[in-house]
Amino acid sequence: MEALALERKAEQNRELKERLLQLKKERNAIILAHYYQRDEIQEVADFRGDSFLLAQKAAETDADVIVFCGVHFMGESAKILAPNKIVLVPDERAGCPMADMVNPIGLREMKAKHPNAKVVTYINSSADVKAETDICCTSANAVKVVNSVDADEIIWCPDKNLGHYVQQQTNKKMIIWEGYCNTHDMLTVKDVVEMRAKYPNAEFVVHPECRPEVVAMADFVGSTTGILKYCRESKHKEFIVGTEDGTGYQLRVDSPDKTFHFASKFLVCPNMKVNNLKKVVRALETMQPQIHVPKDVADKARLSLERMLLVK
Ligand code: 13P
Ligand code: SF4
Repeated sequence: MEALALERKAEQNRELKERLLQLKKERNAIILAHYYQRDEIQEVADFRGDSFLLAQKAAETDADVIVFCGVHFMGESAKILAPNKIVLVPDERAGCPMADMVNPIGLREMKAKHPNAKVVTYINSSADVKAETDICCTSANAVKVVNSVDADEIIWCPDKNLGHYVQQQTNKKMIIWEGYCNTHDMLTVKDVVEMRAKYPNAEFVVHPECRPEVVAMADFVGSTTGILKYCRESKHKEFIVGTEDGTGYQLRVDSPDKTFHFASKFLVCPNMKVNNLKKVVRALETMQPQIHVPKDVADKARLSLERMLLVK
């Protein structure tokens, strides 16, 4: 019975993939997929990537339509960077709770309290918040971005865990917002201790959205792309992975001879998993849901994203 259900699902996916190829041609569309998406979406993506790479791809593409498979702020960033393109998302309910932990009113109040500070905002934020921001960053370039800013004082939002990690690597004074990622923040010291006992030969790699005490236990700390590169290039054969479990797809593609154990069964972002292949096909069929950002907000937010893309 199980085998029959699997066979049916595989057949359905084959049909969906064929339809998708046809629609992609008709619409001149590209599919961008974050590494946390379901395998069935990563399999059909033109580009898989972390937040930084996907923002770059959106800014550069000459396709007419971008189907952004990730969460809402990612689609919004793509629309801001490519205002003349149609940006579709498979399901507009796919949000990011961390991005919702900061709003423009709160940020303006913080700026009024610290008039000499510049605002560095993690790309996991709304367009309205980006419009109040001097420069954006992702986990791949956070330290470089903070160090590039022409001010000694930084208002950092919204991720306190990433902020704490960056603070350890810069002399600038960081005023850190209290936001966090519900998924990464769930990983505890106890989880890691247990995994290390179970897999004593494995290296522990972690995303800086995890808690500082968990990050302190790691053999390697990095963005999703950083973790992938480290595991690909390492001579080690076994890893305990402290980031979202969708990353397993690319880890296995890159290093089929290595073993990856996710550090907790809770490392699954339910928002990222709202999307599926059926919804990607439906989005291209109906050309809905589309992302729209008011022009005045987009024009301000674009400056903060473009400044980030220029940091080398
Ligand atoms: P990166 O893609 O920058 O590694 O960020 C992780 C994340 O949580 C995205 O929502
Ligand atoms: Fe937001 Fe965390 Fe999910 Fe990324 S993994 S989309 S930061 S909740």
